[in-house]
Amino acid sequence: AQKIPSLKDAFKKDFGIGTCLNVAQIEERDPEMTAFIASQFNMATPENVMKSALVHPGWDTYTFEMADKLVEFGKKHNIKINGHTLVWHSQLPGFVRGIHSQDSLRTFFTDHIKTVAGRYKGKVFSWDVVNEALNEDGTLRKSVFLNYLGDNYITDAFRLAQEASPGTELYYNDYNNEQPAKRAGCIAIIKKIKDAGVRIDGVGIQGHWHVGKVPLAEIEESINQYAALGLKVMFTELDIEVLPRNFQGADVGQRMTANATSNPYPDALPDSVQTQLAADYEALFKLFLKHKDKVSRVTFWGVNDGDSWLNGWPVRGRTNYPLLFDRKNQPKPAFYKVIALG
Ligand code: XIL
Repeated sequence: AQKIPSLKDAFKKDFGIGTCLNVAQIEERDPEMTAFIASQFNMATPENVMKSALVHPGWDTYTFEMADKLVEFGKKHNIKINGHTLVWHSQLPGFVRGIHSQDSLRTFFTDHIKTVAGRYKGKVFSWDVVNEALNEDGTLRKSVFLNYLGDNYITDAFRLAQEASPGTELYYNDYNNEQPAKRAGCIAIIKKIKDAGVRIDGVGIQGHWHVGKVPLAEIEESINQYAALGLKVMFTELDIEVLPRNFQGADVGQRMTANATSNPYPDALPDSVQTQLAADYEALFKLFLKHKDKVSRVTFWGVNDGDSWLNGWPVRGRTNYPLLFDRKNQPKPAFYKVIALG
């Protein structure tokens, strides 16, 4: 087999190239997969293993085994780790549902950030301190945090993270925060943090986009606006959904069974879509390179199509193709378009 060119090498002078990693990869169950990851990526984000439900299952119980292994993996393979994530309304520990007072929530919030960020002080490169705090209209999303702590909770989270892990870069991360209204909300968060004299180093645009509909103009405007605030801009969970959107809407919340309509391309991606996907990735990376002085990292949400969460979300039984490598880690046409730019 021909040697596959390396993304991290191709973009070394420009920005970091990351992937999310999950348990099987972190445990190095497949040595070929490990070697492949190490050859392609120099940054990684835990897909799940540092989320609060996983590291903090009980009030006084922390389970760090897999998160520690991820840190070891990074050290061994020269991959910088972006911790994900300290404060998020989703994937919360079950016991949080039993919290009904400001004091208890404050205790959970403070202990969690101090303990988790403290444990990885000097060991992770960065943290997504707060994830997905915004509604589409730019207002703050309803959550236990907003409910009990009020709208200072985001600034408080950054302050606590900074105290617990002073040398670590601290980011705010969200999806659709390249869209004008949500971007305005995001900028308001950033300004509020800075006005309080608290540090924020960067903003993550997740980048869960849809084939043929990547919002390039809004992305460019967002890179410029966020960078103008002195922040690093990162694309933190990049994937391009290829299944029809109307299907997504129609099936959300319905019984999760695979059927013909839920799985339009069960065996392979049609050439026309493959070509569009390649064009979308090419246009995106051209934009990233145009702004390489502002864009510090591009992280894919999965190593290959087989890993992608989009095979199971919003309904199970889908066969999705959102990444640069196929289910056998073979480069797709999109990969060759991207690597040619490096
Ligand atoms: C997703 C994971 O990929 C799934 O395995 C998990 O079941 C749910 O979470 N935004 C985020 C990520 O910030 O943490 C989410 O990851 C995808 C959307």
